[in-house]
Amino acid sequence: MVKVIDLRSDTVTKPTAAMRKAMMEAEVGDDVYGEDPTVNRLEQLAADLIGKEAALFVPTGTMGNQLAIMTHCERGVEVICDRKAHIFNYEMAAASVLSGVQLHPVADLHNEKGIGTMCDYIRHPSPYLPKTRLVCLENTLNAGGGTVMRPEQMAVVYRLAHEYGLQVHLDGARIFNAAVALDCEVTDLTCYTDSVMFCLSKGLGAPVGSILAGKKAFIEQARRYRKLLGGGMRQAGVLAAAGILALNNIYSLSADHEKARALAAELSDVPGVKVDPEKVETNMVLLELEELSVTQFLELIGSKGVLAGPLGCNTVRFVTHRDVSMEDIQTAAEVIKSVLQQ
Ligand SMILES: Cc1ncc(COP(=O)(O)O)c(C=O)c1O
Repeated sequence: MVKVIDLRSDTVTKPTAAMRKAMMEAEVGDDVYGEDPTVNRLEQLAADLIGKEAALFVPTGTMGNQLAIMTHCERGVEVICDRKAHIFNYEMAAASVLSGVQLHPVADLHNEKGIGTMCDYIRHPSPYLPKTRLVCLENTLNAGGGTVMRPEQMAVVYRLAHEYGLQVHLDGARIFNAAVALDCEVTDLTCYTDSVMFCLSKGLGAPVGSILAGKKAFIEQARRYRKLLGGGMRQAGVLAAAGILALNNIYSLSADHEKARALAAELSDVPGVKVDPEKVETNMVLLELEELSVTQFLELIGSKGVLAGPLGCNTVRFVTHRDVSMEDIQTAAEVIKSVLQQ
């Protein structure tokens, strides 16, 4: 049987034996009453790590982002985000459905070009314009290919936002990938935010869970909204126990980045595709197809056991993670080359 090398996402990792043991042995209580000691421990650890007053354990990154929008905003206001942002493209229009806000996407909000235009997107006071309330950043930028926003870029956005009375939320699903790639403390990035969501269930390897962090009063309100959305979990310590162990995996993310660089290097001069190794900053590789369609290509590599995901009409995304080895990456590169040579 062909071994499957799953490079669709870093969400596909399986919990380790140590995680399963910790889950089995977790001390639990009813978290809706605030009585689950393992959840409380995870929330405290996460808040300290990310440099915020308080944190909330949520089932998914999507719920964390949407709670942030709901808590920062009232209905009818506007939220500025990047055109490629997850909250704009991949969250089922939840910001408008759940919070009644309008997203106002900006091209290139994550680099100097877009940051320089941000002012044009902030509404001036007027009887017929919506009020701008929030800026959402995403670091790393998933649909950008896992690209990193540097602290000084985040600082410009944060200062500008605050000058205009706006709050800044960070979709930091992969914020530790950014910190590791930049070789900085995660707080060097999160200090330029009012709230942060990060995922335990992506490169860090937990089976479930994300964290929303911010000021104490903000998290208290978000906790109420989590209940409203049906996200009040009971003996959730069985999940939080895996999340606590996942926090130990931050520094091994650099190995995932190395695997992504190796894959990009293997594919950089293969005819029929464009891969730019310079653009590989974290654990993602974007491959642009010149002849084959995305569907054809994914089917062909899939039939040989290599899985990747579509990103746009001629681009495919490979994501490296802790459950693929460097040997798997070499095998995947050989499979991709053989398919392109056919
Ligand atoms: C940047 C980003 N934000 C948020 C999410 C949502 O996370 P979840 O799948 O846990 O809802 C994802 C998921 O891939 C993501 O990549």
